[in-house]
Amino acid sequence: MGKSRTEMTPFGTRIKDEIRRQGWSYILEFQPFDDGGTSLTDLAREFGEPLEVSEDGSLIVETEMLPTASVSEPFNRPERIGWHNDFSTWPERPVLSMASVVSSPERGSSGDWLVVGIDLLLKELLRSAQGRRAVALLERGELPFCFAQGEDIRWFRVLDAEAGANRVRYYGRALRLGAELAGLNDSEVFDACETWEYAAETVGVRCPAETGALLVCNNWRSMHDRLEQSAGRRSRLCFVTGAEDV
Ligand SMILES: [Fe+2]
Repeated sequence: MGKSRTEMTPFGTRIKDEIRRQGWSYILEFQPFDDGGTSLTDLAREFGEPLEVSEDGSLIVETEMLPTASVSEPFNRPERIGWHNDFSTWPERPVLSMASVVSSPERGSSGDWLVVGIDLLLKELLRSAQGRRAVALLERGELPFCFAQGEDIRWFRVLDAEAGANRVRYYGRALRLGAELAGLNDSEVFDACETWEYAAETVGVRCPAETGALLVCNNWRSMHDRLEQSAGRRSRLCFVTGAEDV
């Protein structure tokens, strides 16, 4: 067991309220000055236990755009990541993801986030026959996910109605690669992903990734994306376990 939960700050309270309402929270001016990540880990402790992300016990993943970064580090790659929620290929996964921008080279244009709550997304999808077909396929049974070429395929439900209306795990790239490797080339999965993502584009919100900005997502109740980023964009990621009530 780590440090016990601290009393909630005004930022913590606001984030909790917004996540309960829409599945995610965004604060433009969370940490305008670089404090090495202390504010981020302190915030994480208000919600649960920050995940140790390396063997040295670090609680923070530092990201930086590198054209040579591996596909297994999509957060460091220059291109857009694609709609996802984090740890979609992990059986157990941190509920909350927190991302804060340390430096942004072009104000308001480089590496902005897109985010959408699952309630809103499902509402949009259920308005059309095509959307209802996509939802039906994605909740019908387990589908293959593969994070990167050479890794094992893992089968999960995208939409798990039994776990509650808002239990979603999604990563378009991993699902498409998984479908390809599993020989599901009948385009059903690909069509469903396209419809799902089109709906996310339609009702999702763009949040500027300016220096000091923060995005907090409940990985079961929202999806996010990071648009193309250029050199000089750096951010910190912190993941929270044991935050089931948010
Ligand atoms: Fe992410």
